[in-house]
Amino acid sequence: MLPITLAFYDTKPYDREYFDLAAMGLEVVLRHHEFRLTADTASSADGATAVCVFVNDCLSRDCLTKLSGAGVKLVALRSAGFNNVDRAAAAELDLLVVRVPAYSPHAVAEHSVALLLALNRKIHRAYNRVREQNYSLGGLVGFDLHGKTVGIIGTGKIGRVTAQIYRGFGCRVIAHDPQPKLEWAAEHGINYTSVESLLTESDVVSLHLPLTPETHYLLNVATIALMKPGAYLVNTSRGKLVETAAVIEALKSGHLGGVALDVYEEEEGIFFEDLSGEVLQDDDLARLTTFPNVLITAHQAFLTHEALTEIARVTLDSIVRFRDGLPQVAERVVK
Ligand code: NAI
Repeated sequence: MLPITLAFYDTKPYDREYFDLAAMGLEVVLRHHEFRLTADTASSADGATAVCVFVNDCLSRDCLTKLSGAGVKLVALRSAGFNNVDRAAAAELDLLVVRVPAYSPHAVAEHSVALLLALNRKIHRAYNRVREQNYSLGGLVGFDLHGKTVGIIGTGKIGRVTAQIYRGFGCRVIAHDPQPKLEWAAEHGINYTSVESLLTESDVVSLHLPLTPETHYLLNVATIALMKPGAYLVNTSRGKLVETAAVIEALKSGHLGGVALDVYEEEEGIFFEDLSGEVLQDDDLARLTTFPNVLITAHQAFLTHEALTEIARVTLDSIVRFRDGLPQVAERVVK
């Protein structure tokens, strides 16, 4: 069995821990890089047969052309989303692109609900108060989730788990998806509706759909205006599903009651980095962090032991299959 060299980008300590462990005995040589893969850094893949990338690596046509020139044959995304890959260019260059279609929908679904609960019950504010021995309750009033209407946009793997969690709270759940899962919906007492009526009726709107040219800025000035006054928005999917400037205006006017984000449209180069000693250059992100009713985590919804174990296992399995000339698992291949 010949070893295969894998150039690994945007490596964080937890990636190293889980991948190095999973690669033991597989004859896969991991070459870790802490910087991101872009057209400017692609030459660092020289001598590697495969690259392993995450959500903020940028696999543009230029980058893919350079990878192909460096001898790379396989792009392994250690994520479910693949909006950061120019798929047409990859196909033209005969580069195989694989991903991890489902590692733990529970990890992301549970984090999205955790954000909503924390925001609604002001846990983030209470935590700080109590640490300063401020035991007052002013400004900490939330609402019962029980009986509220939650709108789930995108009922794939993560959206369905999220919907079921909200059903467990006694919420009325409505959903929108161009490919409705009618049997599942009937089983869980969930009704599909148009995106417009979902926005109009929901107390909480939770996004669980992929970013595509059609879904870019799904939530914009016009669609946010359809939302109920005081409604909450939760986005753990992709930042560019939401027009940040429109969200800021809706928060300033009081139209939106709260916004919980695990993704941000300009997160590339910011999220996953420790910038605590630097001046933040992104004015929209800076503004968002000033609202008491905004809660942001830096793309950590996937970050559970179970998800990291599965991401490493599936990614390395795809790489070993490629090396050994075995067929790929169909749903992992990005076309
Ligand atoms: P999935 O592929 O199982 O489901 C996506 C669903 O969205 C499908 O049912 C599809 O029909 C639906 N959809 C497509 N266009 C739509 C539209 N215009 N309106 C409504 N629904 C639409 O994907 P999965 O695994 O549930 O993931 C959802 C998203 O979550 C991913 O695309 C990814 O961007 C994000 N994600 C975020 C993570 C994080 O750490 N924050 C981790 C993993 C995924």
